[in-house]
Amino acid sequence: MYKSPSRLPEEARSAVAQTLNARLADGLDLHSQIKVAHWNIKGPQFAALHPLFETFAVSLANHNDSIAERAVTLGGRAYGTARHVAERSRLPEYPQETSRDLEHVVLLAERIELYLDGARESRALGEEHGDTDTVDLLTGIVTELEKHAWFLRASLE
Ligand SMILES: [Fe+2]
Repeated sequence: MYKSPSRLPEEARSAVAQTLNARLADGLDLHSQIKVAHWNIKGPQFAALHPLFETFAVSLANHNDSIAERAVTLGGRAYGTARHVAERSRLPEYPQETSRDLEHVVLLAERIELYLDGARESRALGEEHGDTDTVDLLTGIVTELEKHAWFLRASLE
């Protein structure tokens, strides 16, 4: 572990940095899957969903960056190559032959919900270790991605 401006003990910083890396792997994987949906979507809902998926991707890219930088701030490292992410992400692979608009909506909703499970687990671990700042970061992310999951689920009703 590197030196850190955080006052948390090294054991806590190490545990939190590790869980943040798990979220980084999921988040980078999810980002690539959202872009695949953004590029390949076809159907009557194209005009609404193509730009909506892009807003999800842009917001997630920022969250991934914040998560990586939090891990390093705590004295850890940030792991994020495509090969590393492919081994560790909890998301299933995206069926890249999908084209129909609402099929993409279902696939992305499922994957955002899986991402959220991980974010809540990491937040609970941050709480256990008294890392209010990581908890705060993850709460912001959970709130926004729950909203995105709602957008998708609402499109299916
Ligand atoms: Fe684009």
